[in-house]
Amino acid sequence: MIGRLNHVAIAVPDLTAAARTYRDALGAEVGEPADLPGHGVRVVFVTLPNTKVELLEPLGDDSPVAAFLARNPAGGIHHLCYEVEDIRAARDRLLAAGARVLGDGEPRTGAHGRPVLFLHPKDFAGTLVELEEA
Ligand code: CO
Repeated sequence: MIGRLNHVAIAVPDLTAAARTYRDALGAEVGEPADLPGHGVRVVFVTLPNTKVELLEPLGDDSPVAAFLARNPAGGIHHLCYEVEDIRAARDRLLAAGARVLGDGEPRTGAHGRPVLFLHPKDFAGTLVELEEA
């Protein structure tokens, strides 16, 4: 069911510093910061030949990334995003398999303007999983 790895998201305490590291030390193609208030994050996309890295910094007081950084002050991998062809069909299949879909279970518009859902890490080997309709 899942297709390509769309991105790896890394929560960071300092988005400017992390973007500089990816651009200057790793020589990656790094975009401009963008605020996503609906998701409580500020993001920078790093474009690689085969996937993307999404650097995340908390935006606002109730950002889900703030709690993650409280547990991981130096930052760390926050979630993986896999592409699916039909996000509602994917959700229904996962619910039937007993997986937990976060929030109200309805897809929201993600960082790339596409519908996304998040799946409970305890159901997926300890990793928060995002599905994005490709
Ligand atoms: Co993501």
